[in-house]
Amino acid sequence: MADEQELFKVTIDDITIEVPKGTTILNAARKIGPQVAPPTMCYYSSLEGSGGKCRTCLVEVAAGSTKDPRPMPKLVASCRTEVMDGMIVKNVTSEKALDARKGIVEFLLINHPLDCPICDQAGECYLQDLSYDHGTEGTRYEFKRRTFVREDIGPYIQLHMTRCILCYRCLMVADQLTDSRSQGILLRGDVSEISTYISKAIENDFSGNMIDVCPVGALTDRTYRFKNRVWFLKPMDAHRDCDKCCGKVTLWNRGEEVFRVTSRKDPWGEVQKIDDKPAWICNKCRFEKKNVSDWVIEGPTKVSRHSVISTNHYVQKVVPPDPLNKVLHGRTPLLLMDINSVSKVNTDDVDLSILPGPATSTTFIERNLEKEIKETSAERLSINDHKKP
Ligand code: SF4
Ligand code: FES
Repeated sequence: MADEQELFKVTIDDITIEVPKGTTILNAARKIGPQVAPPTMCYYSSLEGSGGKCRTCLVEVAAGSTKDPRPMPKLVASCRTEVMDGMIVKNVTSEKALDARKGIVEFLLINHPLDCPICDQAGECYLQDLSYDHGTEGTRYEFKRRTFVREDIGPYIQLHMTRCILCYRCLMVADQLTDSRSQGILLRGDVSEISTYISKAIENDFSGNMIDVCPVGALTDRTYRFKNRVWFLKPMDAHRDCDKCCGKVTLWNRGEEVFRVTSRKDPWGEVQKIDDKPAWICNKCRFEKKNVSDWVIEGPTKVSRHSVISTNHYVQKVVPPDPLNKVLHGRTPLLLMDINSVSKVNTDDVDLSILPGPATSTTFIERNLEKEIKETSAERLSINDHKKP
């Protein structure tokens, strides 16, 4: 009996649930579901001590507990506040909380560029989602935004500090997953920045997980940068035997090409827990295993239908018969615009995933020139062959 956990009753947005003593309001709300769970930008359940930095998860406590039912005077950070028995919490039903969240989005965007069209994180950026859900359409900010020079931290990761929202998650990964932390937050106030000490490269086997925990596009995978948009890729669950990590990953494929490898995410966008342990992956699996043959494919990753990544990703689709064949009495329709042959870009012989950097027009022009030269010389040779007596 002594082991029995004490349960507290908490009501969030008019839904009552019982949770073990010590549960935070955020985790109690997550138990109910995404409709009442506050958004988070700095909390990450697998990282000890995370949360309490961004204030995105503020909620109103309308009654503190059964014993003391007075409301809490200020909004509280749900990721850091534990539930009390009989507590009444308002999140989406609180005008105060929603108004505060609007203000938080405005604050976060003060120092975040609106460069979503060229940012690798577009389509899976939590700040982008947050501003669509809670932001306003305009800005009142009139000053110049701070900017930083991009920094390569090690061979695989690039830091674009201009986009950083100082959530501290990457520092916690470095602290908790690697044996030596070589980066930290330097300086204070609006000039504070994540930096590696004397640009020291992060060479730890698990450093790539910093990319996965970054809620915005501040830390990006150098082997994937500018290679593709995430909604054009097809996420597949896959695994391999790895002596360093669990080897359970998501492959992001386009056709047979593996463009990037990430850890698997749960519905909250955090790394999935397997047997109650976060399934962090090592750098070898993430950056060096980019062939489909390196992996055992389990099947398509389940993607929320609200995510832009789910676009055009159908499973068990039933394709209706093509009516054109019938109408044209078996003739094949003339292709009016074969974009590849007209534009001479995206030709099949260019493997975008294995290019050392982003593809540029030169990538295709050079290939096309090579191809044209080969074709022309082959043509000349055959003409000369004909001319021979
Ligand atoms: S780089 Fe990303 S993960 Fe690190 S503090 Fe900035 S926003 Fe957070
Ligand atoms: S998620 Fe709670 S303060 Fe950032």
